[in-house]
Amino acid sequence: MRKVYNFGAGPAMLPEAVLLKAQKEMLDWKGTGVSLMEIGHRTPEFQALADQSEADLRELMAIPSNYKIFFLPGGATAQFSMVPMNLLGINKKADYIDTGVWSKKAIAEAKRFGDINIAAAACEENGILSIPEQDEWKLNPSAAYLHYTANETISGLEFQWVPDTGNVPLAADMTSLMLAQPIDVSQFGIIYASAQKNLGQAGVTIVIIRDDLIREPVANTPATYMYKTYQKYDSFYNTPPTYSWYISSLVLSWLKEQGGVEAIYKVNQRKAARLYAVIDESKGFYESRIAVKNRSLCSVSFYLKNDALTEQFISEAHEAGLAYLKGHRFAGGIRACIYNAMPEEGVNALADFMLDFAKRNG
Ligand SMILES: Cc1ncc(COP(=O)(O)O)c(C=O)c1O
Repeated sequence: MRKVYNFGAGPAMLPEAVLLKAQKEMLDWKGTGVSLMEIGHRTPEFQALADQSEADLRELMAIPSNYKIFFLPGGATAQFSMVPMNLLGINKKADYIDTGVWSKKAIAEAKRFGDINIAAAACEENGILSIPEQDEWKLNPSAAYLHYTANETISGLEFQWVPDTGNVPLAADMTSLMLAQPIDVSQFGIIYASAQKNLGQAGVTIVIIRDDLIREPVANTPATYMYKTYQKYDSFYNTPPTYSWYISSLVLSWLKEQGGVEAIYKVNQRKAARLYAVIDESKGFYESRIAVKNRSLCSVSFYLKNDALTEQFISEAHEAGLAYLKGHRFAGGIRACIYNAMPEEGVNALADFMLDFAKRNG
């Protein structure tokens, strides 16, 4: 048993069962006599792993057959470039929703390649951040796509709904939400997420793309940035991040054992509800700066009204085995990331600590 609950944003906590399996298989992967790290990606053994992980992901997310799945290097950050390079097409116009740090990074990259319209942005009123409803957005009906960040991991600002873009393909950065809640993949043109939050360890990024969107990219796009390349070579154009892919494959089978996405979503909802209840019932000792309708399921951010107590909260929590709760350097305060791997006991331990800390210091 591990002694610490890790609330860090990513690379984040992995299920203990996954770590134990990886440990057990470290020196001899499936009777090959070698570690997975030492196996060629073009061997039948690795091919079987790749096929199985794709099949598991398809099953878990009910991904329709006209969507391709890629396991790519470069992080979600590379997707900030790959999405515009490959999807802008000839009119080179796209809509973006700006909800925070990650959207801004995606927008900055897209602006290198096309004419980017910020159709809407998060707004702050009386210190509370929210996402405007879609009827307030300025959408361009001839945009090549609309991009949004489903959950801004830093602030903990989540959509909780899927934009309706009609025929305009929807591009979603789901880095901190993929597999935490059910989604209807057919509503999206492309979904991407780097693995180190809910899907495994850093190094691999999962891209799910409707096959008609795998188009001719902008001029001079390097081969490693073309979806076409990965379609042609099934993610094996060059050496893929094999060990990260392997850890993702273990996470996917672990998730199936937990009952799949619907089952883990129920647990995730209970976990988030427990923390938000402690915040809301603390009589202002803790405060959330996110509108209730946009509160994140996976990255719960909050502040102590008396900011002078923040450092004390973080260090006492750490001593109590509740680790890495410090908010992002851009946001301050506290952030508890409670992805799929965080057990309910970890969240309950944090909630109890918060109640006790407020009692002692309120
Ligand atoms: C929502 C979101 N998008 C993109 C990224 C960037 O991911 P990477 O560091 O894997 O490029 C992160 C990382 O935390 C994120 O939370």
